[in-house]
Amino acid sequence: MRKLVNISNRLPVTIGKKIAKSSGGLISALEGLEGKLDLKWVGWPGGVISSDSRQEELSEKLAKEYQYYPIFLSRTQVNDYYNGFSNTSLWPLLHYMANYSRHEERWYEAYRQVNRQFAEAVLELIGSDDMVWVHDYHLMLLPAMLREARPGLSIGYFLHTPFPSYELFRCHPKREELLSGILGADLIGFHTFGYLRHFRSAVLRVLGMESEMNKILVDKHQAKIGVYPIGIDAGKFLRELESEAFRKYRAKFDKVYQDKKVVLSVERLDYTKGIPRRLDAADHFLSGYRDKDNIVFIFICVPSRGEVQEYQDLVERVEKRISEINGRYSTLGNVPIHFMHKSIQFSQLCALYSRADVAMVTPLIDGMNLVAKEYVACQQDKNGVLILSEFAGAAQELFNSMVVNPYDIKQMSESIGQALELPEQEKADLMLPMRERVLTYDAAYWADSFLGDLAETVKHVEQKGWTEPLDEKVVLRILRSEKLGLFLDYDGTLCEIKTKPSDAYPHAEIKELYEVLMARPEIDVYLISGRKRADMDAWFSDYPFTLIAEHGYFYKMRGFSEWVILDPRADLSWMDQIIEIFRHFSGSTPGSSIEQKTSSVVWHYRRSDPEFGEWKAYQLMGELMEMLSNLPVEIHHGKKIVEVSSTHINKGMALEHFLQAQGYKAVVCAGDDETDESMFRLDHEQIVSIKVGDGETVARYKVPSPKELRDFLIRALG
Ligand code: UDP
Ligand code: G6P
Repeated sequence: MRKLVNISNRLPVTIGKKIAKSSGGLISALEGLEGKLDLKWVGWPGGVISSDSRQEELSEKLAKEYQYYPIFLSRTQVNDYYNGFSNTSLWPLLHYMANYSRHEERWYEAYRQVNRQFAEAVLELIGSDDMVWVHDYHLMLLPAMLREARPGLSIGYFLHTPFPSYELFRCHPKREELLSGILGADLIGFHTFGYLRHFRSAVLRVLGMESEMNKILVDKHQAKIGVYPIGIDAGKFLRELESEAFRKYRAKFDKVYQDKKVVLSVERLDYTKGIPRRLDAADHFLSGYRDKDNIVFIFICVPSRGEVQEYQDLVERVEKRISEINGRYSTLGNVPIHFMHKSIQFSQLCALYSRADVAMVTPLIDGMNLVAKEYVACQQDKNGVLILSEFAGAAQELFNSMVVNPYDIKQMSESIGQALELPEQEKADLMLPMRERVLTYDAAYWADSFLGDLAETVKHVEQKGWTEPLDEKVVLRILRSEKLGLFLDYDGTLCEIKTKPSDAYPHAEIKELYEVLMARPEIDVYLISGRKRADMDAWFSDYPFTLIAEHGYFYKMRGFSEWVILDPRADLSWMDQIIEIFRHFSGSTPGSSIEQKTSSVVWHYRRSDPEFGEWKAYQLMGELMEMLSNLPVEIHHGKKIVEVSSTHINKGMALEHFLQAQGYKAVVCAGDDETDESMFRLDHEQIVSIKVGDGETVARYKVPSPKELRDFLIRALG
């Protein structure tokens, strides 16, 4: 049985005179896995409970009865962390409503503090083989906090809201902190591919971190990313449809709304739900509808986040608009808009869903929207129509709904008319496949697939040994061998990658390593780089090292002042042709440039827009592959570069040359990118290879960064 510690802002309980377990999508999803899951839950029980003895009493009771572990928040924390940072700063921005988003530094402080409070509670609770699953935008910092404290822990994170375009997310003053926080997880889930795509783009542009379609390499672990559309607790709805309470309410509503068309809306009263625009559409529709005695729009608006100003304003606005419409279109026999600013019982909700001729779910944007799925699940007679906003995550799945643009009042109004006119058979044909889908891909399916992938992710990482550190003992033994050659790449290996290549001069820590190497004259040190001779002369000529420039085209033996060509037969006649193509790409890619070396040409795009640069680089690669198939050249797509060089020249050949010429008994080589792989691929048992940084490699060992390589060499040889 899997052991899970689930963490969300809210605990699924209501604390009044009595403690009641509350329902909701998440709790049902996880409880649906009963028997497969040993579940503990950490969260805020709501409200402010300040008495220590009451807190203790509740903690004990919740732990004993439900395995729930409450996080108590002070009044200030509720104001700053929940109302402030979570619901006034983050929520609107995640929903593309930057004009509603405000930021105060103290809100962030409280957010960090509360995330820390959650982290401490979780760390106290977890056992050695527990997984943790963190939910939603209130707890974006938590995954990294947990990762830091327990690097080996399996951590899942799910965002229940949209993730907006980078252009919006970049506005947030804490964008780096928030993204880095989420990236502490092993698996990050979203409802739709669009949100995942935006997240990757923000990670690239805000943190400068490259990603693959389904994973991001983060320092010492990899964060997988995936799409998991949440479902509803289908079983609970099906059971309810069979219940006595349901039958009673359904009969009652059939009577109350006899001969009336019912258009239903259900949601929290939130500005993302598009209520005012929907009222505009109802207004527009009613203005042209003849049978005003026989139509009713029911708005169930559940009170939400009432301490936040924008929500208070919305209540006023909605109430005012409803009274205008009712004033205009009421008849002596009918009031067209029924507005309830309260929540209703589950049996009533299901009876309404099942009775409504039309459900209008038209949020301006919504992570998923469960109401849409719940309506479909309750259409056991299959004669209702769902009008659904194209901006709800659910629109990607509920393909047979009437999809509308919630900003287009006329279209929404017309779709009400069309929905009411649709023939019975057509309605059933549309509803049936949607209902099947909603009942199959339910909440338990969602939770099971996320947790299954989380368990797999962790297994995969363990097998691949991504985080396996350099085996210092083994390499140390080799470094002590007689007749040792040490081949060190420079950029990205000894020195951190810099945006401007000229900024990568040897800093104090590199010089310290060089001092250590100089004190060991019995070791032959080679600095082997793609750089030009001039750079290497300027930076390294004072050291007693052999220099290898341009990936092995030139070398200068230690103690000598002349550069020598390693293989004079290398054919370089292809160069002009390549330069011509590179010029064309430089012109169409702002920020990119060409570097011409003696034996190769490089197209640099580090300063271009990252996505555009990458896209152009793939395009360039495609063109080069096609054109160059008959030429003696190699094409490397390295870190923000595309380089074309002679096939007769690479670092591996240079290493091989010196290995034979000097008869080394042992060689240690280290590098960070594709051009170093030619050294790593050499198949001699006396060679030990070390890859610095992330990425696929054939090297035997990996270290995470240049700093760690330097520190290791200083420790080993000093
Ligand atoms: N809901 C509720 N009480 C009500 C009416 C609705 O608890 O009186 C539930 C509804 O059944 C649904 C949830 O509120 O499960 C709303 O979820 P949704 O994903 O639609 O929107 P969210 O509130 O998460 O933005
Ligand atoms: C959305 C959020 C949830 C949140 C719910 C109700 O669905 O994604 O995390 O719990 O709204 O909001 P509330 O502020 O009342 O918890």
